[in-house]
Amino acid sequence: MKVICIANQKGGVAKTATTAILASVLKQKGNRVLAIDMDPQGSLSKQVGATTEGHEVYEVLKGNVSARDAIQHLERFDILPTSIILAGLEAELMTDVGKYFKLRDAIEEANLKDDYDYIIIDTPPSLGVPTVNAIVAADGILVPTDADCDSINGIVQLSDTVRNVKKYCGVNPEILGIVFTKFDPRQNNSKTMLELAMRVADMLHTKVFQTFIRGAVAVREAKSSSKDLVVSRPDSKVVLDYTSLANEMLKEV
Ligand SMILES: Nc1ncnc2c1ncn2[C@@H]1O[C@H](COP(=O)(O)OP(=O)(O)O)[C@@H](O)[C@H]1O
Ligand SMILES: [Mg+2]
Repeated sequence: MKVICIANQKGGVAKTATTAILASVLKQKGNRVLAIDMDPQGSLSKQVGATTEGHEVYEVLKGNVSARDAIQHLERFDILPTSIILAGLEAELMTDVGKYFKLRDAIEEANLKDDYDYIIIDTPPSLGVPTVNAIVAADGILVPTDADCDSINGIVQLSDTVRNVKKYCGVNPEILGIVFTKFDPRQNNSKTMLELAMRVADMLHTKVFQTFIRGAVAVREAKSSSKDLVVSRPDSKVVLDYTSLANEMLKEV
């Protein structure tokens, strides 16, 4: 399990936070880690302080630049950054029959799997071309969700996309599981939401991770200050939660 895509077409469920913290946790464990930002909003790129002057995902997916030349080597982990230009890709690739294989090809052509132990891909809140590229490139898909019916029910649609990718794209990414983020066990509906998530997970032949990521203001603060929580607050609950998630996820794969 080398390439892990973080996906859920619902916005605000902590895909980007999960990508950033998980990538850092894996890096702190001594792994070589690359994060790829496939969300045209570029929140991950901004949060980790990637420069906007270098090359970016868009140019890589267009085949103009090698992925190797677009990677930025930051202290917290390496990143293939993105910007809003990526939003135009979908229209540009309209008639390109290979449009879903751009990221996979770029990773292969640059032999990135030799350079990294883990490649973690952040995706936008939609099931369009960037997200499908991430799914096609992935070995595993981690699905963050908040305790909200729409977010949990939306996972069924994501899984339809994964099923179609398997059927038509000749690749076999596995849904690793659903992880609750920003979780507050005192919230009245948390038990009902957990039961709903377990039903959805059963239907999709996957599971709900035993690790819950607790809600923590530190995550929001770290985002605005570009701080790496895993380094600045290694003992905070949320970092411990993500460490436990990494252990749970990787134990089985
Ligand atoms: N564990 C957490 N506790 C508190 N706030 C969180 C947590 N994880 C993420 N957030 C906040 O929730 C918001 C949405 O998270 P984000 O990662 O941007 O979601 P997505 O990428 O799915 O849209 C952000 O403001 C983020 O800082
Ligand atoms: Mg995001």
